[in-house]
Amino acid sequence: MKVLEENRRIAHNLRPTDLDNLGLAAACTSFCNDVQLRTNLQFQCRITSANQRLPSMVELHLFRIVQEAINNIEKHARAKSVKLQLRFQGHSVVLKIQDDGQGFDARTLRAVKKIRHGLGLTNMRERALSLGGTYEIKSSPGQGTAIAVRVPLTATKREPNPKRPKLLTEEVALPTEN
Ligand SMILES: Nc1ncnc2c1ncn2[C@@H]1O[C@H](COP(=O)(O)OP(=O)(O)OP(=O)(O)O)[C@@H](O)[C@H]1O
Ligand SMILES: [Mg+2]
Repeated sequence: MKVLEENRRIAHNLRPTDLDNLGLAAACTSFCNDVQLRTNLQFQCRITSANQRLPSMVELHLFRIVQEAINNIEKHARAKSVKLQLRFQGHSVVLKIQDDGQGFDARTLRAVKKIRHGLGLTNMRERALSLGGTYEIKSSPGQGTAIAVRVPLTATKREPNPKRPKLLTEEVALPTEN
């Protein structure tokens, strides 16, 4: 890969201006377009409520998960196509990234990991959990890989839990002036 191209890619990864300016949906579409242009991967992005903005930490962690999952697909999967889904389901946002590549065996991976640690899968999981969400990965040799992340958006409002103190950052509807 040309050095300039690589530099541009690293810069893009470090400073997701698209994310701040355009929001998660457009940033994901733009990232997939970039990857499709420089690889043979075909992307199918299905994004609902594309204009909706989410709390900035949710957008950042989900975007990083998308980047890492797609980096992994480029590096390891030998896939032809990638499906990316971002949708709102009840009070959650659900992200799925699925490839049709060679997949891997989690047991073999655990054995290998004792020798050489990869950080990507662990980081994706940590990011999902840090948002109070769930992370699931399904993969098997020859069957591709699918990652699913679900993050609750308004859990505190939806299911008030008397044992749990109200978060200071919780949004409160203010009466309109005038
Ligand atoms: N989409 C995928 N298709 C096939 N294999 C995968 C895929 N994603 C991950 N893997 C396998 O899981 C391993 C661990 O992935 P992980 O992202 O944790 O580490 P890495 O990519 O090897 O290194 P790092 O992310 O730290 O640069 C990979 O080395 C690869 O064998
Ligand atoms: Mg990786």
